[in-house]
Amino acid sequence: MEATTIAFDRYQPLADEACDARIRAARAALGERAVILGHHYQRPEVYKHADLTGDSLQLSKLAAKTESQYIVFCGVHFMAEVADILSKPGQVTVLPDLGAGCSMADMANLAKVERAWRDLSTVLDPDQHVTPVTYINSAADLKAFCGEHGGIVCTSSNAREILAWSFKQRDKVLFFPDQHLGRWTGYLMDIPLAEMLVWDPDEELGGLTPQQIKMAKILLWKGHCSVHQMFQPQHILRWRERNPSGMVISHPECRFDVCKLSDYVGSTDFIIRTIAASPPGTRWLVGTELNLVNRIAEQFKSQGKLVQFMATTVCMCSTMARIDPQHFAWALENLVAGKVVNQITVPRHEAALARVALDRMLAVS
Ligand code: 13P
Ligand code: SF4
Repeated sequence: MEATTIAFDRYQPLADEACDARIRAARAALGERAVILGHHYQRPEVYKHADLTGDSLQLSKLAAKTESQYIVFCGVHFMAEVADILSKPGQVTVLPDLGAGCSMADMANLAKVERAWRDLSTVLDPDQHVTPVTYINSAADLKAFCGEHGGIVCTSSNAREILAWSFKQRDKVLFFPDQHLGRWTGYLMDIPLAEMLVWDPDEELGGLTPQQIKMAKILLWKGHCSVHQMFQPQHILRWRERNPSGMVISHPECRFDVCKLSDYVGSTDFIIRTIAASPPGTRWLVGTELNLVNRIAEQFKSQGKLVQFMATTVCMCSTMARIDPQHFAWALENLVAGKVVNQITVPRHEAALARVALDRMLAVS
């Protein structure tokens, strides 16, 4: 008799502790048939069950390498799409809650990017002059757009190498959807701020004049991460008054002035490695998502390192938090019962083009 899908309703009332035991049992029953990938921003009750953890670049490489039949992705939607695109035929990628999106990724969509390309073509030939670069925090169809138009994908840990590659292809870059990562990376490459202009997708010609488009080196899509926008320069200045020898480290999705005031800027993995390598007793102020900062603070407490969160208000990634123990247990127990729930499947044609842009990235980084 064919197995029936277990409904989520039964899991909603379960306490986290009850889910914990069920997750362990289901995980053990699945054995090597499943691999659980976890992003650094996942809540502790979920993160502790991950077989492999990493930043978005590492997770995409891990997804490409695994032989497991099921890739259970504890992260957000675009990460699971990348896992589906890079995995082998027959492997199945599951996102325990389909509501786990990324509000920044949603700030660019294919219709708007295609309109930007059409607008640009009234001023110059974009296929000759503009490399489209999409941050990995974007939907698969935008990666496919980049694949089709000579472009590439980047992550927060390889953006500089990717922009260097992009400028070898064409003299300008259209960078979406995160203006802050684009601006910070351009700044590190000595591109003057005046040559990095914001492209507002809701305005004609991005709100720019033809002259401005012709002189710009990077067109920065008007998008941002609402979690990282919470960090402000005054958080750093006030903390430094109290901790004059302390160090500040931020994610490049933070505002330019926050990155500029920081001692170090880098991906989630870079943040962990940098704090791990610092001498005992070092004090750190960290500008990234709270679950990760709390985990680092706990991990290095015994070495006398003091790790503090940059903002005065709680800033968690609410979409990452959608992967809760209840959804996780539900997805795993269905797999044990022979049923796949919440499979992420990128349409074949789109996946092939997106893979072109992702493979270019993997070859460069
Ligand atoms: P990382 O690539 O540093 O893991 O960042 C992903 C992300 O979404 C940060 O907000
Ligand atoms: Fe997206 Fe920001 Fe959450 Fe990262 S922290 S997944 S960019 S909403």
